Amino acid sequence: FALQDGPKPLAGKKAVVTSGPTHEPIDPVRFIANRSSGKQGHAIAAELARAGADVTLVSGPVTLPNPAGVRVVQVETAQEMLAAVQGQLPADIAVCAAAVADWRVLHRADQKLKKTGDGVIPALQFAENPDILATISTAGPNRPSLVVGFAAETENVVDHARAKRDRKGCDWILANNVGPETGTFGGDNNEIHLIGGSDPARDEIWPRQSKTAVARSLVARITRHFNS
Ligand code: CTP
Ligand code: CA
Repeated sequence: FALQDGPKPLAGKKAVVTSGPTHEPIDPVRFIANRSSGKQGHAIAAELARAGADVTLVSGPVTLPNPAGVRVVQVETAQEMLAAVQGQLPADIAVCAAAVADWRVLHRADQKLKKTGDGVIPALQFAENPDILATISTAGPNRPSLVVGFAAETENVVDHARAKRDRKGCDWILANNVGPETGTFGGDNNEIHLIGGSDPARDEIWPRQSKTAVARSLVARITRHFNS
C-alpha cells in the first residue's frame, strides 16, 4: 500500500541504515568486492520509512532501486561509508547491514597495473578498514540509542555472533547462518537468531523467512523497543 498509509509508530525517530558491499580499489579499473546484494539493508530502510522514521540509507554499489521515502547516500569504499554514517549522527536508530570489506588495498595504483611480461605477479598489501558498527556503538554522546548489527557466520553461529556483539558494543546482533547448507549470502531468505543482550534469555529465533519479512520483524521489534 502507499507510503503515507498506515500507522507511523516511528514518527519523529531518525534512522541510518548501511547496506550493500563496499568496493575497495586496486587501480583505476579493478576493485575488491563481495557478494552482498543489499537486499536486506534496503528492505530494512524501506520498512523503517514505512513506519514513519526519517531514514538515510548509506549504500555501497548495488543494482537495486532506491527504496521509496528514503534519503540515499551512495558510497564506494568502507572509509566513505564511515564518513557518510558519521555525517548522519546524531540519530536514534542505526542498523548496519552492509557487508563492509574488512581490508582495503594499502597502496592503490594511480595507473592500471600492467603485466610485466616476465611472469612477475603483483603482490597486494592490505590495511584493515574502520569498523563502522563498532565506531558508532562507541560514539559517546552521538551514539544512537539503538544500534543493530548483523553477523554472517558459517559455523558456531550464535557463539560467534554473541562474541561479536560484546566486542563491538552494539545493542542487538541479528545472526545469520550463511553456511553451505543455507547458502543465503546474496540470496532471498534469511534465518535469523536475534541476540538482544549477553543474557541468552533475550534471544529470539525467527523462522527462515524472506528478507522483506525479516525487515518487517525487525521494525516491529524496534517499535516495541521504543514503546515499552
Ligand atoms: N561491520 C562494519 N564495518 C566493518 C565490518 C563490519 O560496520 N568494517 C558491521 C557489519 O555491517 C555487520 C557487523 O559489523 O553489522 C558484523 O560484520 P561481520 O563481517 O560479520 O564482522 P567482522 O567484525 O568483520 O568479523 P568477521 O568478518 O571476521 O567475521
Ligand atoms: Ca567482516
